[in-house]
Amino acid sequence: MSKPPKDTRPRRMSGSKPSAPKRGRRTPKAEQDNATRMMHKKVKTARGRKISSKLWIERQINDPYVREAQIKGYRSRAAFKLEELDDKFNLLKHDSLVVDLGCAPGGWVQIALKRGAKRVVGIDILPVDMVAGADLIEYDFMEEDAPEKIKSYLDASPDVVLSDLAANTTGHKQTDHLKTVALVEAAADFAMRTLRPGGHFASKVFQGGAEFSLLNELKSRFQTVKHFKPDSSRKGSPEIYLVALNLQNPKTD
Ligand SMILES: C[S@@+](CC[C@H](N)C(=O)[O-])C[C@H]1O[C@@H](n2cnc3c(N)ncnc32)[C@H](O)[C@@H]1O
Repeated sequence: MSKPPKDTRPRRMSGSKPSAPKRGRRTPKAEQDNATRMMHKKVKTARGRKISSKLWIERQINDPYVREAQIKGYRSRAAFKLEELDDKFNLLKHDSLVVDLGCAPGGWVQIALKRGAKRVVGIDILPVDMVAGADLIEYDFMEEDAPEKIKSYLDASPDVVLSDLAANTTGHKQTDHLKTVALVEAAADFAMRTLRPGGHFASKVFQGGAEFSLLNELKSRFQTVKHFKPDSSRKGSPEIYLVALNLQNPKTD
C-alpha cells in the first residue's frame, strides 16, 4: 500500500510571513500542536462503555490503515500485512492455490485473489461473507477432522498455506500463550503435510517468534525460514510473522 500521509498539519503557504506572536496569542508551533490534537479524534466514554473499548474505538478511528482499508474496500486492515509479506517474500504467484487459515473477515482472501491466486480455500470458526473465487469453510481448525475438510475442497496440493489464526485472549498470560502456540503448531503441521514441494508457508506467531522446536523442524523441511514484522502490524502488538519458503522435505509420518 502507498503509505498513508502522516503529517497532515496545516502548513504556511510559501511567501506568506508568519505574524509575530502577540501576548496571549498562540505561536505557530502551538497552533500546529493544537491542529494535530484536533485531528486525533477522541471518543466520549458512554455510560457502561469500558475504557478499554473506548480506547479500541479511538484507535480504530485514528488508524490510517483502517481508513485506507475502508477506501480500498478491504475487509480488514490485516490485508496490508499480507501485501507486505508478499512484497517481501513473493509468496503469491499467478494461478496459485492458496489455503487461508483463520480467514475471517476475508482481507487476506481478497489480497490473495487480487494478486493472482486462482483459488483460495479459507477456514474460520466465524462465518465469512462469500468472496468470488474462494471456498470459505466455517469450522474450528483445531478439530481433528479439519485438515481433511480443507483437503476435500482442494483438487491439488496447495502452493501456499497462510495462517493469521489468533485465539481470543482470556487475559491469563500462560493460557493465552499455550492457545497461540497450539494454533501455530497445528497450522505448521498442516502446511508441512499438505503443501506441494516448493510451496510456501506464512503464519502469525507471537512473543518473539516460533517455539524453538517448531523452528528447528521448519528449518529441516523448508529451504528458508525467517521472521518478519510488517509496518502495518501495530508497533505495540507482540505479533510477528513466520515465513517458511520452498518446502523441500514434506512431513509424511
Ligand atoms: C486476525 S483474524 C484473521 C484476519 C484475516 N487474515 C483477514 O485478513 O481478514 C484471526 C482469525 O482467526 C480465527 N480463529 C481463531 N481460532 C480459530 C480456530 N480454532 N479455527 C478457525 N479459526 C480460528 C478467528 O475467528 C479470527 O477470525
